[in-house]
Amino acid sequence: MTPTAKQLPAWVDQLRNLLNKNMKENKDLISYALATQGPERQPRVRYVVHRGFVNERRKEGDGSQNLVADDDKNDLISDKLVVTTDTRSPKARQLAAAPQIELAWWMAATQHQFRVVGNAYILPSSAFTKHDSSEPRTTGNDGANTSSDKISFPFPEKELSPYDGFNWEDERIRQFRKMSPELRASFYRPVPGTDLQDADLKMEDLPEKLPEGVEEAESEEQKKQVEQGLSLRQDRYLLRSPQLMSYYTAALKNFALIVIDASEVDLVDLGSMPNTRTQWLRKRDAADWEEKGVVP
Ligand SMILES: Cc1cc2nc3c(=O)[nH]c(=O)nc-3n(C[C@H](O)[C@H](O)[C@H](O)COP(=O)(O)O)c2cc1C
Repeated sequence: MTPTAKQLPAWVDQLRNLLNKNMKENKDLISYALATQGPERQPRVRYVVHRGFVNERRKEGDGSQNLVADDDKNDLISDKLVVTTDTRSPKARQLAAAPQIELAWWMAATQHQFRVVGNAYILPSSAFTKHDSSEPRTTGNDGANTSSDKISFPFPEKELSPYDGFNWEDERIRQFRKMSPELRASFYRPVPGTDLQDADLKMEDLPEKLPEGVEEAESEEQKKQVEQGLSLRQDRYLLRSPQLMSYYTAALKNFALIVIDASEVDLVDLGSMPNTRTQWLRKRDAADWEEKGVVP
């Protein structure tokens, strides 16, 4: 049966529209501060880049088998925000232990602040979670890292999906493929946050870029040939050099999505006079939201 797009809360449309306006003025406004809980429940915060809502895509033909829109041409997205990260990073460990987050996003061009409270979940590579601790540990940075492979990452797949039967591994790979070659290469590096001196691999020996076949093409004709053979699960889009190919595979293994399930959204508009402030609260055990104006 063809899925039908979910009714999205009003804040999703507001966020998408405001982000469009802000991005036209300044591309850096795509980042927000994401706070998690440290092991002693202390706040930890860092900037991250908004990578859209789950399955938010402009077109088909990007290799993902997931559907873009329903029969009435409504986008099959959910109201869950996506961030990309390294499964081995401290924030991934923090979220595995405590999913509670808050984010603050200042959209300076239009003078709006979004704050979102909710839970965030790590979607790692399936290869990553299947790693069996009885297997011998690899000493190199081949993706079987030293700090996270015994961690389990709870991921309430069904609640986070835009429709039943959504393929999460396709979504993860789609996001990895959208990264720049430089960013992809960062997922091959030693464990983030560990001492540079302890790293088995020297940073200067690692590739600076992990391009794909399309990005490596030397002519328009070659590019077309690669694109024609494009399929998410085929190696044809990948690299010609076996060495780079193995880096690519290891980097993809470390790559994870953070999926944010909001329960409260607070929007302050400092651009209007008088200022306005709107809050949305998700009703307990329900998909619908309550909206109210509050004093700024
Ligand atoms: C503007 C900006 C955007 C960033 N985006 C991300 C991101 O999307 N994902 C990420 O893991 N780190 C991102 N970082 C790096 C993080 O802020 C942080 O330094 C790093 O991920 C380590 O965080 P952790 O120790 O809390 O895991 C970004 C940093 C800046 C300054």
